[in-house]
Amino acid sequence: MRKQLSAFSFQLSASGAAWRVARGGFAVAGLAALLAVAGCRQDMQNQPKIRSQRGSEAFADHRGARPQVANTVARGQLHEDSYFYTGVVQAADGYREEKNEMPFPVTLDVLKRGQERFNIYCSPCHSRVGNGLGEIVQRGYKPAANYHDQVRLSQPISHYFYVMTHGYGAMPDYSAQLTPVDRWAVAAYIRALQLSQAAKLDDVPSGVPVRSLKEIAQEQHLPEGFAEPWTLPPTAVQALPNDVKQGNPALAPTGPADTKITIPQSKPAIKAAK
Ligand code: HEC
Repeated sequence: MRKQLSAFSFQLSASGAAWRVARGGFAVAGLAALLAVAGCRQDMQNQPKIRSQRGSEAFADHRGARPQVANTVARGQLHEDSYFYTGVVQAADGYREEKNEMPFPVTLDVLKRGQERFNIYCSPCHSRVGNGLGEIVQRGYKPAANYHDQVRLSQPISHYFYVMTHGYGAMPDYSAQLTPVDRWAVAAYIRALQLSQAAKLDDVPSGVPVRSLKEIAQEQHLPEGFAEPWTLPPTAVQALPNDVKQGNPALAPTGPADTKITIPQSKPAIKAAK
């Protein structure tokens, strides 16, 4: 055999006869290998076992696939705290009810995480200040909700969680992008945004000294009018001077590539809302 193999390697191109001899050698070797492998299979191949989707004599009902045990919960899917996962509780009348309650304590870290996620996923439509006039809305999308209006201010915090989980009207849901804990963090941040515009003296814990904005503005040499009520800019970035030459990123492009398309230049969302 060794002789045949060497004949194969050295004379393949030169002699057809040598090639035929070598081929015979390979066939014999292959057959031997096959027989050897087949011999190994015995034990594992023939053991008693249930094949998927086939019957079995082992059970009285002759079904190989066993029915699921009632109330079994898959690993990692035990959602015991249903308020945390759904944002609603079952009310006495059988209806779902939202609550003005966070399922975990709100720390500064939670708010920072909420702010980060909000700026990524919500600000394109709701704007960074939450007035509903984000960039996408300025380019024609249905005006997103203004978190500072009376309706939104009076909604319970879990409503925001619910809206992120299921979407709302023209708004898509964000359950794929935001985990439950992130949705709660964003909801908490919406409350912080609202508080930034509508805080009252009662919101301050008793005993904590309150100073007027006017005092602070003077002390920090902030521009006059800082302590007056602000008109919220359409987006946080547009609080910059409204000048294209300054490279204001919030402005629409000066001209569309296709002249038949008009890109609104300023605050069209307010017009669209009427
Ligand atoms: C693609 C644009 C868009 C994005 C992004 C978006 N929203 Fe909205 N959102 C809307 C629109 C539009 C409405 C008003 C829906 C309607 O009235 O049909 C709305 C409404 C809402 C409301 C008010 C619901 C009510 O009861 O009035 C809340 C709260 C809200 N969005 C939260 C969020 C949060 C939180 C995010 C980020 C996770 C987000 N939205 C991202 C477009 C958007």
